[in-house]
Amino acid sequence: MNDVVRVDLGSRSYDVRIAPGLLGRAGEMIAPILSRQRVAVVTDSNVAASHLDALRAGLDGIEIRSLELPPGEGTKSWTELQRTVEWLLAERVERRDVVVALGGGVIGDLAGFASAILRRGVRFVQIPTSLLAQVDSSVGGKTGINAAAGKNLIGAFHQPALVLADTNVLSTLEVRDFLAGYGEVVKYGLLGDANFFHWLETNGPKLAAGDVDLRTEAVRRSVLMKAGIVARDETEQGERALLNLGHTFCHALESATGYSDRLLHGEGVAIGSALAFELSARMGLCAQEDPSRVRAHLSDMGMKRSIADIPGDLPNADALIDLMAQDKKVVSGKLRLILARGIGEAFVADEVPHDLLRGVLSDALARRI
Ligand code: GLY
Repeated sequence: MNDVVRVDLGSRSYDVRIAPGLLGRAGEMIAPILSRQRVAVVTDSNVAASHLDALRAGLDGIEIRSLELPPGEGTKSWTELQRTVEWLLAERVERRDVVVALGGGVIGDLAGFASAILRRGVRFVQIPTSLLAQVDSSVGGKTGINAAAGKNLIGAFHQPALVLADTNVLSTLEVRDFLAGYGEVVKYGLLGDANFFHWLETNGPKLAAGDVDLRTEAVRRSVLMKAGIVARDETEQGERALLNLGHTFCHALESATGYSDRLLHGEGVAIGSALAFELSARMGLCAQEDPSRVRAHLSDMGMKRSIADIPGDLPNADALIDLMAQDKKVVSGKLRLILARGIGEAFVADEVPHDLLRGVLSDALARRI
């Protein structure tokens, strides 16, 4: 099996390598892009405890300096960005040096943004350690931090020079975190590849149970899809928006649950994708059985499949629609959603009938779907 997916962006093209055991071989893959045998690694304290020694051993002979940030979404802040940039400067990281982001989406986004602004841009390598980061955030060059006004509102497109996705590290994840990342995997099948969704229906439970070859294949196929979309639409002028399937619902639910552990991002994406299919079916865009098929797969995986699976109280449908209206995809006050004409056939819908959307959310809140 070819373990390399190329993201084709002209002079900024790069490889995403996907295989078990890559941490132990990191040196041989990173050395060719170094101008001197030295890297600055940005990570968090949890990831460092599990993987920093393995990376150090794998970097065999390459000098390594590391910064451990606090784990969690709160790290995507001005404070930690400033700390990271000042640390990189104190470590004398030069224009031709390479920063390594070792961690999940938070570390990748923050270290990527720090690399984008340090000395007007230094190269960085993503070593994603969560499933979500391996299939989504480490690929495509979206970097940034959160603002008081919302998530990811401050940032830059800055493509990595290399991505190393070691699928063995996924075995150190909590089941819930793994399954949340799986929400982004399902998204790829739902938005653009019905065969992949079918493959996931067959293999999803086995890969969740720990089969590394199946995990590697799921990551590879997800990255292959993302690489194609990013190559065609790097800065999200069109097709890249499809990667936001389920995300407008998700952002509203994350906001309604206070960005707490009541709902993880990937869980919200899975629930949001199922809601997008429910709305698509009610609008007559896709087959009536498609949303049930999506929900059935999420149930088979032991995942949350609808709003009512989120613990605690939630606001009513109108309040959720208000939260959805704050989404980044709103244009001139108009809600734009990613809907589908079938499994694997997502598109951007500019017109969303309010009454049908309200009906879907009311039914979901009342456990009718
Ligand atoms: N996570 C969505 C994107 O990279 O465009």
